[in-house]
Amino acid sequence: YKRVTVKSLVEMKHSGEKISMLTAYDYSMAKIVDNAGIDVILVGDSASNVMAGHETTLPITLDQMIYHASSVVRAIDRALVVVDLPFGSYQSDPKEALRSAIRIMKESGGHAVKLEGGQEIKESIKRILNAGIPVMGHLGLTPQSIYKFGTYTVRAKEEAEAAKLIEDARFLEKAGCFAIVLEKIPATLAQQVAQSITIPVIGIGAGGGVDGQVLVLHDLLGMTHEFNPRFLRRYMNLYDDMNKAISQYVSDVKSQDFPNENEQY
Ligand code: KIV
Ligand code: NA
Repeated sequence: YKRVTVKSLVEMKHSGEKISMLTAYDYSMAKIVDNAGIDVILVGDSASNVMAGHETTLPITLDQMIYHASSVVRAIDRALVVVDLPFGSYQSDPKEALRSAIRIMKESGGHAVKLEGGQEIKESIKRILNAGIPVMGHLGLTPQSIYKFGTYTVRAKEEAEAAKLIEDARFLEKAGCFAIVLEKIPATLAQQVAQSITIPVIGIGAGGGVDGQVLVLHDLLGMTHEFNPRFLRRYMNLYDDMNKAISQYVSDVKSQDFPNENEQY
């Protein structure tokens, strides 16, 4: 295998090969995801929901993101590891944004960072890029701004918001980002963005007209079961399978079926 780099992703866009991306937050899962041939692993701040049980992505800290990211980095041989800058670690000023990005690169060994937003965070993106740290953008539904929008519904359905999104995507490309995530926007708009810029556009709930797809691993595996957006394809029902396995274990312990004679010393 050859390691995936930010350069290989751009080459994949140009050759028409779709980019596969999934989240992971720990060593054991990242090992499986990497061995299965994923191109990009995102250490998403969705860890705040999936790993820690918070209602939003806002509470997770930079230290916690570094812990997750370093666990993932130790597991991978091939995938590109992108790490979310968490809420509060880059919005207040560009110097703090760069300090946060540097901490992620030094302390976790991740290969790139992802930030939510467009022209609002222009100076921060430029500073991070100037330090030689690859940046992935994230537009459309940006969960760190949930309290500004109030809902997790589809974004950029109206003309004005769609026009701003196109402008932001062009800005991120011009600034030097190596890719952009588009979350939960109309498929036609996402396709239009993907066709109008030269860097890869990776979608979640953004249709098939983009350059790649990303999902939250625990959603794909069916480990989460209260989250049912239209864009989610579940490849397993692990919640049910794990529930069955664990309740069987409980009943085997209670009935003294486990351990049996061959399972002891
Ligand atoms: O944190 C995350 O999992 C993400 C993806 C949904 C793109 O940002
Ligand atoms: Na995220």
